[in-house]
Amino acid sequence: MTYWQLIGGALLLSTALYFTSVRFRPGLRNIPGPFLASLSDADRIWSCATGLQMKYHLKLHERYGSLVRIGPKHISFSDSSLIPQIYGITSKFWKSDFYKMFDIKAPGGQVPTVFSVRDENRHRGIKRPIAGAYSMSTMKELEPMNDACSAILLRKLDGMVGQDVDLGKWVHWYAFDVITSITFSNRMGFMEQEKDVQNIIAAIEGRLVYNSIVGQAPYLHKYLFGNAFVTWLVSFIPALAALNSSRYIVAFAAQNLQRYQNKEFNTVHLQDMLDRFKSFAGSDTTAASLRAIFYYLCRNTEAHKTLLAEVDEADAKGELSDPVTFAESQNLRYFQAVIKEALSMSPTKQSYASSNSDNSQECTQPSASSSNVSFRPAAPKSRASTYPREQ
Ligand code: HEM
Repeated sequence: MTYWQLIGGALLLSTALYFTSVRFRPGLRNIPGPFLASLSDADRIWSCATGLQMKYHLKLHERYGSLVRIGPKHISFSDSSLIPQIYGITSKFWKSDFYKMFDIKAPGGQVPTVFSVRDENRHRGIKRPIAGAYSMSTMKELEPMNDACSAILLRKLDGMVGQDVDLGKWVHWYAFDVITSITFSNRMGFMEQEKDVQNIIAAIEGRLVYNSIVGQAPYLHKYLFGNAFVTWLVSFIPALAALNSSRYIVAFAAQNLQRYQNKEFNTVHLQDMLDRFKSFAGSDTTAASLRAIFYYLCRNTEAHKTLLAEVDEADAKGELSDPVTFAESQNLRYFQAVIKEALSMSPTKQSYASSNSDNSQECTQPSASSSNVSFRPAAPKSRASTYPREQ
């Protein structure tokens, strides 16, 4: 046997041993799933890059059952009875490293936001001082800002009667105007200008695409946009630079915070800025929810008619003001059901990755230490038994 044959043989053997140990990882080896997915994260990276990961994973659940191994250390579950065990407040599962992708780069290094912080104790610490800003009573106080945006949307739509309208685009602009109004007291004027002002929506979407794909294997981030050299290099390639737009978004946030300071509002601290940054993601989820509601109503004429009849009836009884208030909308039971149904058919967040911490032995299933688990919120709705008439 030659020297090279020996080296080749040793390499082959160590590769085989490595993949065998990955495939037969204790605690996960008996959980069914696609063979290749159990060997590498490439399966999840690819399915995420196609934009169809949710459909793919729902199909896997149909084939393999409520627990599916979708990665070397990653399990997807579709059984909602496990939710309290994984996501309950006493759960030993914390947010996974996926959320690192949403940390903010600050002069002193990466800083987690209220959304991205993994350590539950630290989360409590970050949330305490800002919880009031996101409370229901604060949201209600901000209702007039929302009403002002709704009035613009209605005026614009009235002016387009008879034309083809991309409603998805309009509700996106609407959501962004609402969120920037309530966050920065500065409506950015997406609807008035009928465009993506300062390309902020494109910037956020670009970064979300990057975060979603690389977040499937977050350890890759330090070789990609987490690396200063790579970031500099891709800044010369516009298509790729568009995916690394966080600097742009932070610059926008900083610009608005400067406005606060100039007007001698209370000094804004870094943490406030980071939490306001999260609100951009709030605008995307709001836009996606509105799109889902309109989409399903357009697809389902029966639901559409029933909803209009409910609104007309309440209006005829004098139960609705103009614009309809949040409190009044709570009494429109069918309307509330429409919102909930649309959100469960098309959840804005398609999975919630959590990692079990080392002392997670109380969690009996799945039990492998330091593995990731994700719930598929759309799974219960996608099961044929949920809609027996459609079988
Ligand atoms: C219909 C609209 C919205 C939906 C469906 C939605 C959905 C969600 C979801 C699913 C999470 C948890 C994500 C995770 O932990 O992985 C979340 C967190 C959060 N959202 Fe939203 N969101 C919406 C609107 C907003 C808005 C308008 C804001 C701010 C103005 C906002 C601020 C936040 C914050 C601060 C968190 C982090 C909370 C924490 O970890 O304690 N969201 N949202």
